[in-house]
Amino acid sequence: MASPMLLLAFALVLLAYSSVTSAEIVEHSFHVREWWNANIMDIENQALGDGHGPNTSDAFTINGQPGDLYNCSSFGTYKLKVVQGKTHLLRIINVALYSELFFTIANHTMTVVAVDACYTNPMVTDVVVISPGQTIDVLLTADQPLASYYMAAHCYDSLGEA
Ligand SMILES: *[C@@H]1O[C@H](CO)[C@@H](O)[C@H](O)[C@H]1NC(C)=O
Ligand SMILES: *[C@@H]1O[C@H](CO)[C@@H](O)[C@H](O)[C@H]1NC(C)=O
Ligand SMILES: *[C@@H]1O[C@H](CO)[C@@H](O)[C@H](O)[C@H]1NC(C)=O
Repeated sequence: MASPMLLLAFALVLLAYSSVTSAEIVEHSFHVREWWNANIMDIENQALGDGHGPNTSDAFTINGQPGDLYNCSSFGTYKLKVVQGKTHLLRIINVALYSELFFTIANHTMTVVAVDACYTNPMVTDVVVISPGQTIDVLLTADQPLASYYMAAHCYDSLGEA
């Protein structure tokens, strides 16, 4: 899975702060994946047929949106609203076919608490890497000033060209 694909794309969506207080448990699901501007079966068949792996994906998406770097996301960029001071549980799922993806949130750290539905010793980090099919649960405390912060997903890139 860590093949040196030249993936140039990455997804960039928003974490938006809200000052409204709320008593409910805040839990959110994220799916990160590749996106090709092509028929996915053709991509798969070609990869299996010639053994060279799939074409480079045209974008990555977070909850279906590639984000601000892509015009098609202008009106629909995914925004997660968080409540300042609250801790939120994010369930991050890599539903990509081929790409290990790094996921990070600007100006925030995350505390990993579960991987593939098994609890882990809490680990504080500013980036998590998720393999296809893997899930990672993190706690995110909205401890920054009221603003919007980018959340980004990017592939593993051993050639340094992405
Ligand atoms: C994969 O990329 C090549 C080169 O750009 C292109 O010719 C081919 O049509 C693509 N395959 C699919 C299934 O889109
Ligand atoms: C986005 O759309 C604008 C206006 O249609 C165009 O000028 C610009 O080149 C587009 N940018 C990208 C990255 O496609
Ligand atoms: C995020 O952190 C950078 C670097 O420390 C800082 O310049 C920037 O103002 C911060 N962003 C917000 C919205 O606080």
